[in-house]
Amino acid sequence: MKHYKSDQVIIFDTTLRDGEQSPGASMTKEEKVRIARQLERLKVDVIEAGFAASSPGDFEAIKAVCAAVKDSTICSLARANDKDIARAAEALAGANSKRIHTFIATSALHMEKKLRMTPDQVFEQAIRAVSYARNHTDDIEFSPEDGYRSDPDFLCRVIEAVIKAGATTINVPDTVGYAIPELYGQFILNLRQRIPNSDQAVWSVHCHNDLGMGVANSLAGVQIGGARQVECTINGLGERAGNTSLEEIVMALKTRKDYFKLFVGVDATQIVSSSKMVSQITGFVVQPNKAVVGANAFAHASGIHQDGVLKARDTYEIMRAEDVGWSANKIVLGKLSGRNAFKQRLQELGVSLESEADVNDAFAKFKTLADQKSEIFDEDIMAIVSNAEQHQEADYFRFISLSQRSETGERPSAKIVLRSGENENVTTAEGNGPVDATLNAIEMQAKSGAELLLYSVNAITSGTESQGEVTVRLAKGGRVVNGVGTDPDIVAASAKAYLAALNRLHDPSQEKLNAQMAP
Ligand code: KIV
Ligand code: ZN
Repeated sequence: MKHYKSDQVIIFDTTLRDGEQSPGASMTKEEKVRIARQLERLKVDVIEAGFAASSPGDFEAIKAVCAAVKDSTICSLARANDKDIARAAEALAGANSKRIHTFIATSALHMEKKLRMTPDQVFEQAIRAVSYARNHTDDIEFSPEDGYRSDPDFLCRVIEAVIKAGATTINVPDTVGYAIPELYGQFILNLRQRIPNSDQAVWSVHCHNDLGMGVANSLAGVQIGGARQVECTINGLGERAGNTSLEEIVMALKTRKDYFKLFVGVDATQIVSSSKMVSQITGFVVQPNKAVVGANAFAHASGIHQDGVLKARDTYEIMRAEDVGWSANKIVLGKLSGRNAFKQRLQELGVSLESEADVNDAFAKFKTLADQKSEIFDEDIMAIVSNAEQHQEADYFRFISLSQRSETGERPSAKIVLRSGENENVTTAEGNGPVDATLNAIEMQAKSGAELLLYSVNAITSGTESQGEVTVRLAKGGRVVNGVGTDPDIVAASAKAYLAALNRLHDPSQEKLNAQMAP
C-alpha cells in the first residue's frame, strides 16, 4: 500500500465509476482504458475503475485498466458482501497497486427503506466485509453511504470498528449533496475527534453537487475536517448534478496554496486534455463558463479586462491558461502528412490503438478527413479515434451513405443506406429539417421506438470548416445511452450519433447494476 505525507491531498478519481453512473455516460472497455491512461498522465493517485460485480463488462474493463496503468492505484467498488468483494479482488489481481472500496448505507432512511436492515445488522456486515477484504489487499477503503445524513453516534461506532477490522481509508459521502461547507467540515472533524483510532486511517471526502456545493464542501472537509483524500470526477461528471469536479479541486488547492498549505501530485497541464477526452467520449458537453475547463474560462471579452490583462496579466487572471493545458488550436497534421507522423501524434496524445490494422483504419479515416478539411487539429484526431472505437462495437447498424435534400419552401427529405448483418437497406423519409428527415429514415429501418432525450451539436474546433460533433441520448426499457458522431457534415454527424446510440442499446455488455440502487 502506498503511503503519503500528511500535507498531501490524495486525488481519488471516480470518473470511471461514479461518473459513469450518470445516465448515458456508460463507456466501453476501450474507452475506459483510454481515460485511465490519461488519468495516469494527469498523475491522479487513485483511479476507481468501476464496480466489478455490476456487470461482466465492468469486470473486464477493470482488468484492462489494471494491465494498462502502472503508476496510479487502481480501485474497484464493492458492496459489503463476500461475493462483490471477491469479484473486485479478482478484477484487480493484475494491478501494480490495488484498493478495494467497500460500502454500506448507514443513514436511518437508507437502512430502513433501502436495505431493510437494522443498525446492528449493518454494523456486523460492515465489519465482516472489511475483514474479508483484508484477505485480498491491505489497502481497504470503507464508505458509510449517505454518511452525512447518518446519526453521528452510530457512525462513530461503525467507523471505529471498521478501522479496527483493517480499513485504511474512511470516506464520508454526502451521497445526496445535502451538506453545507462549514457543517460538513465540522461533521468530519467531530468524527475524527470522537473516534479513538481515527488517526489509523486516511479520511476522505466524497461530495455530490446537488446544491452546487460539491467542491466547496470537499474543500471544507479538507480544511476544517482534516480530510486528506478528495473523491472527484473530470468535469464533475456524475448522476444528477454530478460529483465534485477534479479540475476545480486541484486548481483551488494549487492556486490558494498560501491558504491551504497542502500539496497535490496532479500534473495540472494535463487537465484540459483530460476534460476534452471525457467530454468527447461520454458526449457530456462542458458548459462554456465552467471554471478551469470551460471554453470561456480564460477568455477576456470586455475591453477593460483585455486592456488590464495586456498591461499586467494578474490584473484579471489568477491562473495561467497554459498551466492547465490550454493552448491555441494547433494545426498538427495536413493532407501530406504520412502514416508515421500520424502514428507519432497518436502516441503524443496518449492513444495506443490495439493493432496495426486499427492504426491503418484510423489513418485511412484521417486521409479522408484531410481531403475534406485542409487543417487537422488534435481534436479532429481524437474524434477519429473515438468514432473508430464506437464502431468496433457498433455492429448492429453500420452507416454506409446518406443523401438529403432541402430547399426553401419544400419539406426536406433524406435517403439513408445502412448495413445490418449481411444486408444493406435503403429508406427514405421526410422531416421538419434535414436532421429530422435523416433520423426518421433511420428509425424506419431500426424501428427502435427509443425516446430521444437529447440532441446537441457542437463545433469541435473553431471556424466553419470545423467538424460538427453531435450527441444523441436515447432511452428505452429503463436504459439511457449516449451516441456521439463527428463529421464535417452535421447531418451525417447526426446520423452517426443516432446509430452509435442505437448500437449501444443493442449491446448487452452495456447493461449493469447500479451499486447504490441495488439492495
Ligand atoms: O455517493 C456515494 O455515497 C457513493 C459511495 C458508493 C461512495 O458513491
Ligand atoms: Zn457518489
